[in-house]
This record gives sequence, C-alpha cells and structure tokens, in this order.
Amino acid sequence: MLFLQNVSKYARVLTATGAILATNAVFAQHEVDDSADAGPVKISGNENAFGYSPAAMTAMMQSLGGINRYARTQAEDFTAAVAAHEKVPANFILPTPGSGPVLSMTALAYAAPGKNVVTVTPGYTQLTNLFASQGGTVKSVPLNENLAYDLKAIEAAIDKDTVIVYICNPNNPTGTVPDPEELKAFVRRIPKNVLIFADEAYLELAPGGVEKHSLAPLLNEGLNMIVSRTMSKAYGMAGLRVGYGMAKPEILTKLRPYYQGGPNLLALVGGTAAILDKEFLAENIANYAKVREMVTKELAGLGIKFAEPNGSFIFMETGIEAVEFQKLMLAEKIEVGRPFAPMTKWARVSIGTEDEMKRFLVAFKKVMTAQGKLKG
Ligand SMILES: Cc1ncc(COP(=O)(O)O)c(C=O)c1O
Repeated sequence: MLFLQNVSKYARVLTATGAILATNAVFAQHEVDDSADAGPVKISGNENAFGYSPAAMTAMMQSLGGINRYARTQAEDFTAAVAAHEKVPANFILPTPGSGPVLSMTALAYAAPGKNVVTVTPGYTQLTNLFASQGGTVKSVPLNENLAYDLKAIEAAIDKDTVIVYICNPNNPTGTVPDPEELKAFVRRIPKNVLIFADEAYLELAPGGVEKHSLAPLLNEGLNMIVSRTMSKAYGMAGLRVGYGMAKPEILTKLRPYYQGGPNLLALVGGTAAILDKEFLAENIANYAKVREMVTKELAGLGIKFAEPNGSFIFMETGIEAVEFQKLMLAEKIEVGRPFAPMTKWARVSIGTEDEMKRFLVAFKKVMTAQGKLKG
C-alpha cells in the first residue's frame, strides 16, 4: 500500500524530470514483486521504510548526465547547505559516505596501545571495535535502570589514558536520550584533552529533535568534540551513503590521513536537496512518531517492558534469547534485530510503516504466547 503511494509520488517527480518512459518499466517490475509479497518485513536494520525526499530524487536524476566529472562544486554546495543547517562554519564540516566513516576515522586517528575509549554497554560498537583492533582499550560503563546514560559513571570511568568518550544519542540499541541540559553540562565539564564523540545518527527522530538535543551548537564554543550526523535514518537515504562529521579544523586535520573520499556526486546532490526539503523531513519525523506511539501503546498494554524509544527502533524485553526470537519471528515473516550483549533476552525492533508494524504486532503476540511469555 505504502509502496504504491510512493510509486505515484515518485512518478510525479519522474514526469517532471522527463524521465518517465525510462523508469516506468522499473516501477512496474517492482509493483509485481511487491504484490507477490515474497520477502519478510524488514525491521532489523534501522532502515527508513517511509522513503526519501522527492525533491532529492529530482535533483539526482537531473544530475545523472554530469557524473563524468568529479564532484567538486557539488561537495561545496553540500557543505554550504550543511553549514547553514547546522549553524557552524563550513570549515567544520567533513562530508562522508554515511556517518560510519567519521566513526572509523576517529578510531584510527586516536587509538593506540595504552589509550582507552569510554563508552556504554549495550551500545553501538563501530568506533569502539575498531579502536580495540588498533590495540586500544574499551572501557564500558553499564546503562542505568532506565537503560539510559549514567553520566556520572561515565565521568568516573575517564582516566589519564582516556582519549575519547563516545556518546551515541539516542543510544543504539536502547533508543534512550540523556537530559539535554545535563549532557551539555557533562561535555563542558570533562577534561579538555579528552575528545567527545557525539554520534547523533537518530537524533532528528527524538521528541524535540536536533534543536532540543544536539551538541552541534557547542562546537562554536571550541570544544574538543566531533558530532556525526547521517542521512541514512530520518532522511531515508541509507543506500545512497551520505553523512558528515563536524568539528573544529584542528580535529578534522587529525582525521584527514584516514579519509577515503567523500560521498559520490549523486549522493551530494541528493543530500543537499534533502537537507533543503524541510517539509519532507518533518513528514518523516511525524510518521515515525505516529507509528512509534502506536507500537509502544500496544506493548504497554501487553505488559512488555521497553526502553523509552527516541529513534527509529524499540528495544523490548521478550524473555527469549534474541537469536531464538529472530528465528521464531522469521518463521512469521518478520525480520527483527540481532542480539545486543549482555541483554540477549531483549529484542531491537526497527520501526516500519504502520501496516508493517501491525503485522509485527500480530506475529509478536503469536510468538510470545506460544513461548509462554504472554497469556493468550
Ligand atoms: C548509532 C549509529 N551510528 C552510525 C551508524 C552508521 O550509519 P551510516 O554510515 O549509514 O550513517 C549507524 C548505523 O546503523 C548507527 O546505528
């Protein structure tokens, strides 16, 4: 259903670009696949099921003829759009293919034997795993009873060998956010020689959004901090690979040796158009909020424990080992997230469309009842 809506939405775009004849065949093919309903509902990888800005699609299609050139002006335009959007100077911005490369570059630039990164468990491990692979140490602090950051415990874990504190906000896999004022006070307080890494991959989707929670405005205070943001989540462009890191130039200079190139020309053009299309982003954020509320109400009604979700996923207690839960749900054609140690009897479920989540809830009740975790 949603797919068909998307088809007509994009078809309007395609007509506008004069490319309708060439691409109709592609959509027709997809329509056939969709009605065959072959695959499971994919709510495992925190992908955006609602789609992306039609203006971004138009811009990319109009740029197809230009990909014989390197993306110099497009990178400048993207950087300028990000700088205006984030209210930071353009020389604070490093465009990357998704935000993952910012995490990886930071790990490579700062890791060394004897040095440590402070993080939380369970948390997102792209930066910390790479840090450890370079001989560094990972100091993991448990989350508090609400599965949220215990900022005092994180501060207490910082020692003379700490080079990075990694804050993922909202935290993946729990989806919780710290109080924004407490977080800001925390980052201003910790030792100046320690780099704060604020991974804000899902932050647009938190109630109050980037405006309420982001640490990016603090970059203008000259803090020792990197903020990363991606267009893979709220903007719905995970497959395009576009994101960015933000930090003062001295920090970006430290990362530069590990830079493997920016987003490609189409990603830059699409990313720029998506950033300017504030209306579509607001629509996507509203879609997430609506479906997230629908699912959490149902879970609460069933007496299922879950962490306060602020991103594109919900972390819930099933009482079943996550690997087993994945298998049981897959048998019902629902693909849910992998285990997150040490909370292996909890499941991370990404938020899909309303129809997809209704299908999830039916399967969830069936599986949980059959496993004796819910009264039928
Ligand atoms: C917390 C977090 N940070 C960063 C990323 C990297 O994603 P991308 O490279 O698509 O921006 C992900 C991906 O799922 C994530 O969950």
